[in-house]
Amino acid sequence: MSTHIGAQPGEIAETVLMPGDPLRAQFVAENWLSDVHQYNNVRGMLGFTGLWKGERISVQGSGMGMPSMAIYATELMRFFGVQRLIRIGSCGSMQSEIALRELILAVSASTNSAMNRSRFGGMDYAATASWNLLRKALAVVEEEGIPFHAGSILSSDTFYDDDPSQWKVWARHGVLAVEMEANQLYTLAARHGREALALLTVSDSLVQEKELSAQDRQTGFHQMVEVALEVARR
Ligand code: ADE
Repeated sequence: MSTHIGAQPGEIAETVLMPGDPLRAQFVAENWLSDVHQYNNVRGMLGFTGLWKGERISVQGSGMGMPSMAIYATELMRFFGVQRLIRIGSCGSMQSEIALRELILAVSASTNSAMNRSRFGGMDYAATASWNLLRKALAVVEEEGIPFHAGSILSSDTFYDDDPSQWKVWARHGVLAVEMEANQLYTLAARHGREALALLTVSDSLVQEKELSAQDRQTGFHQMVEVALEVARR
């Protein structure tokens, strides 16, 4: 057991899918995995291990935001030997050509968070996805003909900004979309010598000021889960 994950050694697979919402972790376990075992319920941050096409895979809620993601990612790697972490989340598009429901492969994650400023003594760190997972994800989406965008994203500390046009400076620098966790996932995976990737579906557009209905969010989520599971299996 670690502080926030009530699992025994060996209960968590080497590859973990990480949705922000713990109920989505449960949804993935119930709808895709077989021989499912729930290993965590501490703070309701559900975690499950099961089989996908014979491969042992876990799915663990990360919570929202980088401090929460950092707690779960660190404990998974430090105490449970997790080797590969694949975030499956949603994001807000910052570019007019990126539509609702589309899939984004987050090559790198800039941030407005102070977490890395503190870690790196004020210097900047380029938080980057693992090439090995990224190339597998590319192969899966290309083989399956799934439309996607690959590029840089922003991991923000805030969902509601005081200045609602702040995102535009990131957009002008080619950033595709905003979410709230990948920067710390990538930083911590690098720190532990492990692999990480964030797959994101576009749930809202900052450009068009539109968002998906709850029902439409599910559709994009399904496709992303299947890509993530296939990446995990390869
Ligand atoms: N996740 C999904 N949409 C988002 C947005 N607009 N800002 C931050 N995180 C998000």
